[in-house]
Amino acid sequence: MKANHGEMGVRSWRLDCHVVAGDHDVAAGDLRRSLTASTPTISPRWFYDDAGCALFERITNLPEYYQTRTEQRLLDARMDAVVEAIRPTELVEIGSGSATKTRAILGAMSRAGDLHRYIPFDISPGAITQSASALAVSYPGLRVHGVAGDFSRQLGKIPRRPAGGTRLVAFLGSTLGNLEPAQRRSMVRRLARLLGPGDALLMGTDLAHDTAVLVNAYNDALGVTAEFNRNIIRHVNRAFGGDADPDAFVHVARWNTRASRIEMHLRASRAVDWNLLGLDIRVHVPEGRTIRTEISCKFTSGEVAALYADAGLTPISWDEDALGRYAISVAIKD
Ligand code: SAH
Ligand code: TRP
Repeated sequence: MKANHGEMGVRSWRLDCHVVAGDHDVAAGDLRRSLTASTPTISPRWFYDDAGCALFERITNLPEYYQTRTEQRLLDARMDAVVEAIRPTELVEIGSGSATKTRAILGAMSRAGDLHRYIPFDISPGAITQSASALAVSYPGLRVHGVAGDFSRQLGKIPRRPAGGTRLVAFLGSTLGNLEPAQRRSMVRRLARLLGPGDALLMGTDLAHDTAVLVNAYNDALGVTAEFNRNIIRHVNRAFGGDADPDAFVHVARWNTRASRIEMHLRASRAVDWNLLGLDIRVHVPEGRTIRTEISCKFTSGEVAALYADAGLTPISWDEDALGRYAISVAIKD
C-alpha cells in the first residue's frame, strides 16, 4: 500500500493505493479465466487506464450519451433537499471517476454547513489524484481521502465511518448496471454495510426505454465509444505483456431484450492470436468471433426498489427526468 499526502495549507488530500500491490495476482487469475472461457469476456475494470479515463470523459460529453447530463440535472435539482433530509457529514463515492457530478453533492453539503470528508473510491489512481487535488482546492477545509481499489472485493479498504457523523454513499453513472444480477445484489448489500443507522445510499440508474436511443448512446457518430472499447486491448497488453493489435477489433454495441441490457463486444475482423506472457496464455479469436467487454443493464423503478429492500434499506426518494430515461434514488439504513 502506498499513501501519498498532498497538503497546501488547510487543503489536504491523500490516496491509499490497493490496485497494483494488493490486487494484481487476483486480477490476473480472473482475467486468465474469463479470456479462456467458452464465451470470452474482459472485465470492464480494464477500460480505465489513464487513456481510458480520458476517453470516458469524452463519452460523457457526447450528444448521444444523455446519461451524464441527465444525472447532472437531477442532482442539481434535488441535492439540497436530499442533504436536508439526511444531513450527511461525509460522502463516500464508489467509481468516482473524474468526480464532476460530485460537485453537486459536495456543494449541497457545503451549503448545509456539514461538509467534512470526501472518500472517492476508484480502480484508477490517476482519476482519484486529479479529482482529489482539484476538489481539495475548491472546498478548503474538506479532507479528501481517496482509495484506489476494485469495488468488487476491496470495499473493506474504505475508512470507518465517523463516530457521531452521518455518511452518504453515492454510486452514480449507472455503474450498477455494469454488473450481472447476482453481483448487483451483492454490491448493494456491501454498500449497505458501509452505512450505519441514519446513513444513506444514493444511486443513479439508467432506465429501460427507447432501444434506438439506448444503442446510440453506446455507438456514437464520432467513434469515441469504439475507441474506448478498443483501448481495453491496449491496457490489457500493457498490464500483462500482450501483443494483440487493437485495430484488429471492431466495436459492437447491441441491445439484449431478454436481459434488458446493452452489450459491448469487440469483434475480430481477422483471426487474432493473442499472446499474453504475463498470464501465460495464448487466446485464439477466430475471424468474426467476439470478446464481450461490457454489459449495461437498464432498470425499472421496481427493480431498484427490490435491490434496496434486499439490502435492508428503506427507499425515501425516486426522481426521474421528464422522458423517463434516468433516475436518481435515495435509501436509508434505519
Ligand atoms: N461516476 C463517474 C464515472 C462512471 S464510469 C460518472 O458517473 O461519470 C465508471 C467508474 O468506475 C470509472 O471511473 C472506473 O474507473 C470505475 N471502475 C470501474 N470498474 C471498477 C472496479 N472494479 N472497481 C473500482 N472502480 C471501478
Ligand atoms: N456506466 C456506464 C454505462 O453503462 C459505462 C459506459 C458508458 C460504457 N459508455 C460506455 C462502458 C461505453 C463501455 C462502453 O453507461
